[in-house]
Amino acid sequence: MSEATDGAFPDGFTWGVATSSYQIEGAVREDGRGESIWDRFSHTPGRTVNGETGDIACDHYHRYRDDVALMRELNLGAYRFSVSWPRVLPDGRGRVNEAGLDFYDRLVDELLAAGIKPWVTLYCWDLPQALEDQGGWPGRSTVDAFTELVEAVTRRLGDRVRDYITVNEPFIMAYLGYGLGLHAPGRRDMTDALAAGHHALLAHGRALEVVRANVPGARAGITLSLAPTYPLDADREADHEAARRDDVLFNRWFLDPLFGRGYPDDLARITGGTMPQIRDGDLALIAAPGDFLGVNYYTPTYSSADPAISDSLPHPDPGVERTALNWPVEPGALTDLLARIQRDYAPRSILIAENGAAFDGDRVIDGRVADPRRTAYLAGHLRAVHDAIAVGSPVEGYFAWSALDNFEWAEGYGKRFGIVHVDYETQGRTIKDSGRYLARVATSNRLD
Ligand code: FCB
Repeated sequence: MSEATDGAFPDGFTWGVATSSYQIEGAVREDGRGESIWDRFSHTPGRTVNGETGDIACDHYHRYRDDVALMRELNLGAYRFSVSWPRVLPDGRGRVNEAGLDFYDRLVDELLAAGIKPWVTLYCWDLPQALEDQGGWPGRSTVDAFTELVEAVTRRLGDRVRDYITVNEPFIMAYLGYGLGLHAPGRRDMTDALAAGHHALLAHGRALEVVRANVPGARAGITLSLAPTYPLDADREADHEAARRDDVLFNRWFLDPLFGRGYPDDLARITGGTMPQIRDGDLALIAAPGDFLGVNYYTPTYSSADPAISDSLPHPDPGVERTALNWPVEPGALTDLLARIQRDYAPRSILIAENGAAFDGDRVIDGRVADPRRTAYLAGHLRAVHDAIAVGSPVEGYFAWSALDNFEWAEGYGKRFGIVHVDYETQGRTIKDSGRYLARVATSNRLD
């Protein structure tokens, strides 16, 4: 039987789980770590649900051995984690904190000993506060500072880590962090958001160069949050126009320049900001091909000409299943998204770098967590990936979000995405049924 019909994934397909530093590590004041914008933001009253912070999180900094053992038990071949910039460069640039690098050194060794391939994300949102104080991502000098981080990390880990993700979801970082003020650093200025986005793309381009220079055989790429946009009412021309605008905002803002098309013409009008100064050479640096495109997919967007309706995450099917974050569950949209990426951009390879769901009601009962809805979510989306591969999408791997329940940014700890449950009182871990499901698929390399 062919791969398309028997549920098999291509040979060598990567099966993994993903996390990020601020969401799991805790130990925010240990071993010389500096302050990040997420420390500052989460400690500012009113910014996160219940004022929750990443101070302790999953205490992964101390429990990483146990966490790696769980991944091994689940037979996962890969682990995507991010490096905390202020752990490595407490002031954002200049002095390297060797003790911070030591942590990642130990983690990488532990993973390799367990037969798990480390995938290092170089930036997932925890900018050193010292750099924010000097202008943050809207300032171009942050790109140079990031290059120092990439140098330090690849010099230390490059003998053992070959796979790198440069920047995670620049859209969320720029738009929610600098445009809407919903994420750290909590600024609200669309011109800043556009500048932050541009500098994140430059940071990606520079990181590709540094990684390739320092790591023999390196593979590197960016990960984007992507969502197909559909008209809420397919018979309404104004909703089609709204979907086109949302596509520019959510997808083309970053995809177009990365694939050599420059920024969409109407980006500034759609975001309501002013475009940053684009210097000679910037667009070429941004468009240097990565080895893969990382796709983070959770839910599609249904756009309405009425912004109030669009903001309520509408769906044409009133009965559509929704996650704890009110996100409609629609696996078929992932197949659409992958087909569209291939048609319009044709990356040489694709990694599903994040996919998963928060649902309420996870309970540990007799050492087990029954989470059928999360299992069904994963199964549906893996089927969607399989369908896309069958029609030619070059997907090389799938990382579930997330290895553990964790600090879900402004949402705090209430929204649980883990395939492993975390009891935040005791820090006890319990593999959920969805984790056992993923383990079965990873082991057989085919759909259940
Ligand atoms: C993505 C982030 C990740 C996690 C998931 C749920 O936007 O990359 O850190 O919070 O959403």
